[in-house]
Amino acid sequence: MADIESLLKEKRSFKPSAEFVKNANWNKRTVDEYRKLGAKNPERFWAKMAKENVSWFTPWKKVLQWKPPAAKWFVGGKLNVSYNCLDRHLVGENAWRRNKAAIIWEGEPGDTRVLTFGELHREVCKFANVLKGLGVKKGNRIALYMPMIPELAIATLACTRIGAIHSVVFGGFSAEALRDRIEDAGAHVVVTADGGYRKGVPHALKPAVDEAVAGLDVVEHVVVVKRTGEEVAWESARDHWWHDLMQEASAKCAPAKLDSEHPLFILYTSGTTGKPKGILHTTGGYLTHVTTTAKALFDLNETDTYWCTADIGWITGHSYVIYGILANGVTSLMYEGVPTHPAPDRFWDIIERHRVSIFYTAPTAIRTFVRLGDEHPQKHDLSSLRLLGSVGEPINPEAWMWYHRIIGGRRCPIVDTWWQTETGGIMITPLPAATETKPGSATLPFPGIDADVYTEEGVPANPPDGGFLVIKKPWPGMLRGIWGDPERFKETYWSKYENTYFAGDGAHRDSKGYFWIMGRIDDVMNISGHRIGTMEVESALVSNVKVAESAVVGRPDEITGTAIVAFVTPKGGVTSNDDLARELREHVAKHIGAIARPADIRFTDALPKTRSGKIMRRLLRDIASGKETVGDTSTLEDYSVIARLREADEG
Ligand code: PRX
Repeated sequence: MADIESLLKEKRSFKPSAEFVKNANWNKRTVDEYRKLGAKNPERFWAKMAKENVSWFTPWKKVLQWKPPAAKWFVGGKLNVSYNCLDRHLVGENAWRRNKAAIIWEGEPGDTRVLTFGELHREVCKFANVLKGLGVKKGNRIALYMPMIPELAIATLACTRIGAIHSVVFGGFSAEALRDRIEDAGAHVVVTADGGYRKGVPHALKPAVDEAVAGLDVVEHVVVVKRTGEEVAWESARDHWWHDLMQEASAKCAPAKLDSEHPLFILYTSGTTGKPKGILHTTGGYLTHVTTTAKALFDLNETDTYWCTADIGWITGHSYVIYGILANGVTSLMYEGVPTHPAPDRFWDIIERHRVSIFYTAPTAIRTFVRLGDEHPQKHDLSSLRLLGSVGEPINPEAWMWYHRIIGGRRCPIVDTWWQTETGGIMITPLPAATETKPGSATLPFPGIDADVYTEEGVPANPPDGGFLVIKKPWPGMLRGIWGDPERFKETYWSKYENTYFAGDGAHRDSKGYFWIMGRIDDVMNISGHRIGTMEVESALVSNVKVAESAVVGRPDEITGTAIVAFVTPKGGVTSNDDLARELREHVAKHIGAIARPADIRFTDALPKTRSGKIMRRLLRDIASGKETVGDTSTLEDYSVIARLREADEG
């Protein structure tokens, strides 16, 4: 029997449009050639990419040194990330980009700022000097706990300029979570703001920093950006206003010539259990990976206005708001607030006003918009869009179709990109001029990436059987370790199969070799001996016109071992009652089979999610089986959702 059974049959497919085939950075012929080279000799492929897409001060001596699980890429090469994102756009044939917008920023209250590549370079050099003035040296760790404001991008780039290692801690995390991360990384300096705007009100940050660093000797300096103007407590020996320090800083700062394997950043990712892991990324391989993928799969052009809605507190924000985009000399839009403030059409309004051409967001946002109704996007002129992307969770085929029709006007290719904090850059994705897309599938590995689906025994699963997603060869953007915990690094990613990266996701491949991600392995449900992933049952529910979003989990059952419980958010205006529950149970049985028919349907107006939009099925499992909520809930977006679900349960 398959390790995970695949039930979903998706028949629709979409060929690349003539528009893309004509003008793309990577046309079909290029993609075929790179796929061949990447399969035969991945090192040669990545070396070619490193040469074409990244500027080096000193060339490397060896492309890859691989002593599993330790990889070194472009050994002996020297470079600087901020040089690649900024300086190289100010010289030679690209010198005209000095006055091109690097960052178009919009605050939630509607204030805007545009930083050209020239201005951003100046600000980055100044802040790099500020850091030096505070005693920061190459290899020191800097914690950034900030709202989505330009200063966050400036601070990350300034760290890379001098070889300091940034650790961005998402502004929605608590003081306690911040403290753990500062302590684990041993950060001497914390950069923050008085606060930022969220849902129309100031959301304070400085008090959380004060609480987090109280009694932590390691923190010597706290730099504070004035954003909201709200009053803050002040520790004069430790705290500095950003604007005061910047006023005195010189705008001249030569980029440090850093080793290709010099640590670039740490980013903490919380597993479902245990303490967060500090994922470590380094310089040359990471930059090659994100710059190449961004150019190829977003088809970045000189005239694009690119918008990725992710917060810089997540890997998507690191790789595809800042580094991969700016390194290509492309304008990156940054937005501070929530998608629905002051009205449910905020995103579409931003796209129309700034003439955004490439839009990259998460399925959770897409499903929210489905629920809010089509009238909001339809009020706006979205004709500037030419490509759409999705990341973070499996996108259900019906949500994909909505995105395609309502946002993409049936003309924009959709790139459903699979990757992880650990992978650094995108791994499995369509290439817009070459790949026929199928709703719900991330399609094929990027050239040079060797992905597969393994059985428990470590052999490739027979399509369409599901199994465990693995990466069989090292890739340039791969994590280099878990900060301070080499054992956990080996144990988590490299112990299930020999010399093979274990991603922790379930997946299956179809007859064309396309990958379909089925959800996290931890969420797989065992129903009468059939192992079923969450994505397919949820997709079946969402394919009913009355459903906007759903999450399914297993609860213990005397007869079947596990029974499926489906939490369902209906679309606006739909009445949820027993008839609808019955209809949905039958709908699932009809679409993917009686084995997946949910035992219970529970209606809810919201699902518990992390701030990055992932459904926390672990918490739903506790509710479904009537258990107390245990484990870490610090990443939960809105705790009241859990309380409401529990009340509904008791009522
Ligand atoms: O389960 C997969 C899901 O998100 C996980 C990685 O989460 P994180 O490290 O927070 O990074 C998110 C942004 C890259 C994966 O293990 N995931 C991410 N993208 C997709 C996805 N699942 C299905 N399809 C995707 N496109």
